[in-house]
Amino acid sequence: MADKDGLKVAKNYHLDEPFANMGDFHVKGAASLDWGMKKHLSRIFDPITGKTVMFAFDHGYFMGSTSGLERLDLIIPKLEPYVDVLMATRGGLRTCVPASTRCGVALRVTSGSSMMNDDLSHEVVAVGIEDAIRMNADCMAVQTFIGADGQLSSLDNLSKVINDGFKYSIPTLGVVAVGKEMERTDRFFKLATRMLAELGCQIVKTYYCDNFEDVVAACPVPLVIAGGKKLPEDEALTLAYNVIKGGAAGVDMGRNIFQSEHPAEMAQAVRKVVHEGFTDKDAYDYYRELVDKEI
Ligand code: 5RP
Repeated sequence: MADKDGLKVAKNYHLDEPFANMGDFHVKGAASLDWGMKKHLSRIFDPITGKTVMFAFDHGYFMGSTSGLERLDLIIPKLEPYVDVLMATRGGLRTCVPASTRCGVALRVTSGSSMMNDDLSHEVVAVGIEDAIRMNADCMAVQTFIGADGQLSSLDNLSKVINDGFKYSIPTLGVVAVGKEMERTDRFFKLATRMLAELGCQIVKTYYCDNFEDVVAACPVPLVIAGGKKLPEDEALTLAYNVIKGGAAGVDMGRNIFQSEHPAEMAQAVRKVVHEGFTDKDAYDYYRELVDKEI
């Protein structure tokens, strides 16, 4: 292992040069993967725009019933037409999402903590690869805790899921967790996202930060960005705009959609930013128009 003290700080991300190894495929870092992996990735990332709107409603896996997600069976059918991918637990999917959905599926496969714990960083792989195959999951989501007490076990979980994923051509989505005590700097996100990609994830979910373009450039797989805690709709659309402008391949948004007063309209506005290049301002005007039509 390299001597930590002797390492130079990375600084040249060549922001003016696009990723050099796209081949003839639309997903960053996936040019050399096999057909099955590419098929799943194409259900996640639109082959025309290369981007994705993922809708995360897996919060119940450690939060139980959450504001806005009290009734998955009622909210999901309203949002499903406007998003590309549903990110959920197997329980949420099997009980409340019709199997006829045309959305891709990001299946959360780790769990082990709850809101009752102070330290949320200890999880296990709770869903086996056989069940991911049975559910036709397009990727398996694994929570990782870089710099936290649970780092080692979460990277062990991640590696096991990636190994199984390669056996059956199912991509792994590594989720960068940010705990109370954990850093939220570009230095941290550069470290965490790059580690996950180098460990073999095909997609990484992370957060927006300063110098976000550097984080994107340093990570050889697509980044999708969590929305985080609920913001006013115009600010959430600015977040979506900034992450796309910064080079993210999409959003994986939860609360800023399902806790909006108008979740379906919000999902449609986010879609305009991600797939159609709307500015945040235009997307907010569009959102207001949709809401006013409804009233
Ligand atoms: C937890 C997750 C959640 O799915 C994600 O954070 C939810 O999205 P949001 O922050 O937008 O509510 O991955 O680590």
